[in-house]
Amino acid sequence: MTTTTNEYSVALSFEDGVTRFINVPPGQTVADASYRARINIPLDCRDGACGTCKAFCESGEYDGGDYIEDALTDEEAEAGYCLPCQMTPESDLVLRISGTAEMAKSGIGQFAATLEKLHWYADNTAALTISVEDRGKLRYLPGQYMNLKVPGTEEERSYSFSSGPDADELTFLVRTAPNGVMTTYLKERAREGDSLILEGPMGSFFLREVKRPVLMLAGGTGIAPQLAMLEKIVSSGAAPDFPIHLAYGVTFDKDLVEVEALERYVEAIPGFTFDTIVAYPDSAHPKKGYVTQHLAPKHLNDGDVDVYLCGPPAMVDAVRRYWGSEGITPANFYYERFAVGVPHAPALQPGQDAA
Ligand SMILES: Cc1cc2nc3c(=O)[nH]c(=O)nc-3n(C[C@H](O)[C@H](O)[C@H](O)COP(=O)(O)OP(=O)(O)OC[C@H]3O[C@@H](n4cnc5c(N)ncnc54)[C@H](O)[C@@H]3O)c2cc1C
Ligand code: FES
Repeated sequence: MTTTTNEYSVALSFEDGVTRFINVPPGQTVADASYRARINIPLDCRDGACGTCKAFCESGEYDGGDYIEDALTDEEAEAGYCLPCQMTPESDLVLRISGTAEMAKSGIGQFAATLEKLHWYADNTAALTISVEDRGKLRYLPGQYMNLKVPGTEEERSYSFSSGPDADELTFLVRTAPNGVMTTYLKERAREGDSLILEGPMGSFFLREVKRPVLMLAGGTGIAPQLAMLEKIVSSGAAPDFPIHLAYGVTFDKDLVEVEALERYVEAIPGFTFDTIVAYPDSAHPKKGYVTQHLAPKHLNDGDVDVYLCGPPAMVDAVRRYWGSEGITPANFYYERFAVGVPHAPALQPGQDAA
């Protein structure tokens, strides 16, 4: 979303996964802009002396302002820590704030929406296109998710945006689950034009500044947030300085969705490559097995790589074990688990879906 001319957009990412956006005019500190937006980030001295406001800058440029070593050491500043009471943005920023949004008296937003389009890929994956009233007020980072209230029930379910943050209409990919609450709604009752309620945005799984090679790993509909990230890279208009590789694993051939979109991103993003991998042993797909079986040394770059992993919990756990077995510690490892309400689910392997 664009901001008023000359203002910078600063995303405040809280420990409970809530993200709030503020607009900061040039020369204004992040703390002052937060205060004006009625978001009470942790503050004490407001003078660069106590360190209470210390935050971590995930991406963007800023002037750190004046402070003493007791509040922020040179090593911390070098590592990306900063003091919102002193810092003035010089670009859009993403800041990780200590404390929860609740402490900051800044709840998550609720949005009235309409189901514009419901498209089925095979019989097990639905693509939802949703329009939101007050679209300008719903700002999110690529990779985050919303909670959708399931119409006709008291339940809500989480879904990651597959659309980039600048899209007019929101899109989501939903993998069905046997007898699931959202699944039953989508299969049996959903009609285009239905009213929906969305809450969010939520989540600390979002695209950071591309400072080294990026490896994206997706299982099933875990491709959704990766699509949002790729869309953001395209809309930023700047070619990334490092290669980006995506390994996208599914259980069956029919589970592969949005492959044409990925091919478009190959054209649009210099240095972007992707592989699709199917786990089912009898598949005729050229690449079979699990995503980790199709990673080359160049994708791992001796660990100097930012990894974004999204998929069912067992896939996330398996990839974590894989780092250990390969003796690799990625520079950064961000992940989102698409946990579904299945107690004592049987163990799944990388590339398998939870449903
Ligand atoms: C942060 C986050 C982001 C997510 N993003 C996505 C996304 O982008 N796309 C996506 O497809 N999914 C995503 N998910 C998963 C999604 O939220 C839903 O869990 C999923 O769509 C299933 O919802 P459902 O209502 O259809 O099934 P549910 O009603 O949640 O049921 C899931 C399964 O559990 C079984 N089950 C439920 N309760 C019990 C019980 N007590 N005993 C035995 N079995 C039970 C059901 O029969 C069903 O098979 C995400 C999850 C999280 C946490
Ligand atoms: S509030 Fe004390 S250093 Fe920022």
